[in-house]
Amino acid sequence: MTAAETATADRYSRFAELEARGYSPLYDDWCSGVSTDGEVLALLDTLPPARRQPVLFLAAARFVGAPLGDYGTFRPFVVAHWSAISQVMMRRTTQTNEAGRCAVLLPSLAAISADEGRPLALIEVGASAGACLYPDRYAYDYTPGRRLAPDGGSAVPPLACSTAGGVPLPAALPDVVWRAGIDLNPLDAGNDDDVRWLEALVWPEHAFRAERLRAALALIRADPPLLVRGDLNDEVEPLVERAPTDAVVVVFHSAVLAYLDPAGRARFRDTMQRLAGSRARPVHWLSHEGYGTLAGVAGAMEKAPGEADGRFVLQHNGTTVARTGPHGQSIEWL
Ligand SMILES: C[S@@+](CC[C@H](N)C(=O)[O-])C[C@H]1O[C@@H](n2cnc3c(N)ncnc32)[C@H](O)[C@@H]1O
Repeated sequence: MTAAETATADRYSRFAELEARGYSPLYDDWCSGVSTDGEVLALLDTLPPARRQPVLFLAAARFVGAPLGDYGTFRPFVVAHWSAISQVMMRRTTQTNEAGRCAVLLPSLAAISADEGRPLALIEVGASAGACLYPDRYAYDYTPGRRLAPDGGSAVPPLACSTAGGVPLPAALPDVVWRAGIDLNPLDAGNDDDVRWLEALVWPEHAFRAERLRAALALIRADPPLLVRGDLNDEVEPLVERAPTDAVVVVFHSAVLAYLDPAGRARFRDTMQRLAGSRARPVHWLSHEGYGTLAGVAGAMEKAPGEADGRFVLQHNGTTVARTGPHGQSIEWL
């Protein structure tokens, strides 16, 4: 094996072991298989390093039609369809859109609206298709806790979320009067190709997430948000200025900052700290990210020694308030 193939092999075996094992047996099998398969590794290494990402490869293979069988079935498909798979890997990026994350954002969103005595104007940076912009339209099933639903119910299956640490669950859903998002490549809930890509990004065993995604996309199609194409650092302030003045503006993001380089993250952090501290029109800032992506925010994101449980950190205006399951499946209030 060449040095590049060894690096790619390590990447795939780490992914199998740390991310897929126990969560997706199929992806565990496929990535374990890739990690010892010189021919498939050599194909992956024809792509630039950033494009050799396991999640991108797995979604691209399924987008092209890979059968959901074991590695012995998957491998010949990949070799035979490499040209199509690699084209998808060069054209697309990982833009998983997970409505379930609203379950961990909701307690903070409701508290902000109640404290300010105003409805919400939401701005999501890194919005993908915008499925996280509808926290007022989903039903929630917190355990232990309570069930919450919009008046008249929700067409989207309830977002199940386990709670710990006395999460301040609201008695009712907050009002949202404006919703806007920014993305380098906003996905269009009305475009079949984009919808198929979003579905391919849901891990194969997670049928409930696929069902939720389809229902959320229908909701988006019926009442689309304002989606701005561009870099979050360039677009966030102009968008804050467009928000209605009778609402409280919340800028939030989830699983986005890992895509920025350190300078981009620092610039965004500085902008958000300034906006949150503004006397003229304070903006609330909710960050839901993996550890380490907001280094430099006081008290933020450092793991305790030996800690590696894959959970995300939820912060409000730079203060850590909770640890969460990355897809919104759990929240521990701190
Ligand atoms: C993993 S997805 C998460 C989508 C959504 N926040 C969610 O939680 O479901 C990350 C998104 O961030 C977008 N993104 C990455 N870097 C960005 C940047 N510099 N400016 C705007 N969007 C960006 C990507 O295009 C992608 O749609």
